Amino acid sequence: MAVSAFRDGEYVPLNEVTVSVQSHAFQYGTSVFEGIRGYWDTAASDLLLFRPDRHYARLHRSARFYGMTLPYSVDDLCDITAELLVRDGVREDAYVRPVLFKDTNAIGVWRPDLTDSFVVFHVPMGKYLADEAIRCCVSTWRRPEGNAAPVRAKVGGLYAAMALARYEAMLQGFDEAITLTATGHVAEGTGENVFLVQDGRLVTPAAGEDLLAGITRECVIELAEAELGLEVVERSVNRSELYVSDEIFLVGTAAEVTPVAEVDRRLVGDGQTGPITADLKDLFSRVVRGRVAKYGHWCFPVRTQVPQAVRP
Ligand SMILES: Cc1ncc(COP(=O)(O)O)c(C=O)c1O
Repeated sequence: MAVSAFRDGEYVPLNEVTVSVQSHAFQYGTSVFEGIRGYWDTAASDLLLFRPDRHYARLHRSARFYGMTLPYSVDDLCDITAELLVRDGVREDAYVRPVLFKDTNAIGVWRPDLTDSFVVFHVPMGKYLADEAIRCCVSTWRRPEGNAAPVRAKVGGLYAAMALARYEAMLQGFDEAITLTATGHVAEGTGENVFLVQDGRLVTPAAGEDLLAGITRECVIELAEAELGLEVVERSVNRSELYVSDEIFLVGTAAEVTPVAEVDRRLVGDGQTGPITADLKDLFSRVVRGRVAKYGHWCFPVRTQVPQAVRP
């Protein structure tokens, strides 16, 4: 399989896409990015991108924080990504990483002469977190506060803080960290949003907290309400609720729906995947693979989107 990338208007071999150590993005974290999953559909012989339109809309929003120029519409970006994957003949589950960054080689925290470069590449991707329920801790590192960092954008530099939380969790033998906001409310995982099950209802930190309100979160809320008839409450969540909820799960593009077995060495429920989590995990996995007709419009089949001439 060829491994290509799209860079600033051209499809090129991935190994020819380089970024200088002198680049502003490398030195100061001035990049915005997305992560989009593609699911291989054997029956249709096609790769289904999951909600690429929502991801690219968010990339456009993230770009605003640093006055970046992304000279492609959301539709263009979906088509570019489809063409890249089709050109490379991808026939397995994949993860697409678009990144827009300050590519100028320059020292200086901000300068008026910084220019932008846009790259899309892809890698094969299986599970991000474990398939079984995971063990989490509450991080001693707080999610940066919204007046101190661009918490509603996917900015490269912000992940230095999330990496610190995940590093600490792993050093202590946990699988993942759950961060709190500056005011001590539950924020999110290092790359996931958090849901709690309490007396048959779903509770999740409100989007107005200092967190990245993910696309998976929005899908899970819709599926829970529309398909499972569950009430979903978006509100501030206290740390102590993590110790007394019936079920907890994390959601994200990479993590999909991942059950949580323990928080800070206390079992969640009986430590097994709970019934509501199991139902949502199963439903979500069928939806992303295009097996639930009602949500077929969330899946973007790459081969049928590109011109015949590009198809292998
Ligand atoms: C910090 C953070 N929170 C939440 C999410 C989940 O977002 P999404 O479901 O859009 O992937 C991600 C992943 O992108 C993330 O990095």
